[in-house]
Amino acid sequence: MNNAGDIFQQATKYTRGAMPAGGLDWASQPELYKVYPNATKTPLPKVSAPDAGTLHDALIRRKSERRFAPSPLTAEQLSYLLWAATGISHRQGGYDMRTAPSAGALYPIETYVAIRSVSAIDPGIYHYAIADHALELLTPGDHSAAVARAALDQEMCVRAAAVFIWTAVFQRSKWKYGQRAYRYVYLDAGHIAQNLALAAAGLNLAACHIAALYDDEANALLNIDGTQESTIYMTAIGQH
Ligand SMILES: Cc1cc2nc3c(=O)[nH]c(=O)nc-3n(C[C@H](O)[C@H](O)[C@H](O)COP(=O)(O)O)c2cc1C
Repeated sequence: MNNAGDIFQQATKYTRGAMPAGGLDWASQPELYKVYPNATKTPLPKVSAPDAGTLHDALIRRKSERRFAPSPLTAEQLSYLLWAATGISHRQGGYDMRTAPSAGALYPIETYVAIRSVSAIDPGIYHYAIADHALELLTPGDHSAAVARAALDQEMCVRAAAVFIWTAVFQRSKWKYGQRAYRYVYLDAGHIAQNLALAAAGLNLAACHIAALYDDEANALLNIDGTQESTIYMTAIGQH
């Protein structure tokens, strides 16, 4: 099916007078947070505003950088990057809202981070527990070579201090938007990734987004099925 994208774009249009009918089934709303109750949790350093220059500076400095110095990220830098990408920023109407917008505030994107070199945090593949601002260890060890293989053999992943891996839990958004949710999920991921890129530029770190990936290999790294939840994007990050 090599025209799947064309079919998708047409099949998910909103057309005046032909909008999907029906209310929301609140009883079947999926959970907004994925949890790994048995995982070892690593609390992240408290987020504090870095001395990062202005937003204008970050906009000027942001660019895709694929070379990284060997020095590790600090735990404070990683903490700030995770929060800036998709952490909780404020409460509104009884809900925890996040640094990046999300269609319907349904937050279908999950964040994982494959850590190779971060001070005071062991290498491993972790899940970002947003509500607790903590890392949940999924698989210990340095998996950077496997991450690079999954990213179409892009070598930058081997030298990056950490690679952020974003997945979508599609049902969180499909619950409300049906098939049109697939449009919104990718937009949500873009907002999150740009938050990360600007935060990285502000902290004078190097980063590069990656969408060229072997989907099944990336999903296998995270032990996710590729249907209910699938990898959609990555960002390699490290020191200049
Ligand atoms: C959706 C998306 C996917 C990308 N995938 C890759 C990738 O797989 N590998 C890579 O080296 N760069 C990737 N990039 C980075 C682009 O090549 C880069 O943003 C573009 O060349 C513009 O340069 P700049 O980011 O420095 O402004 C991607 C960027 C975006 C937005």
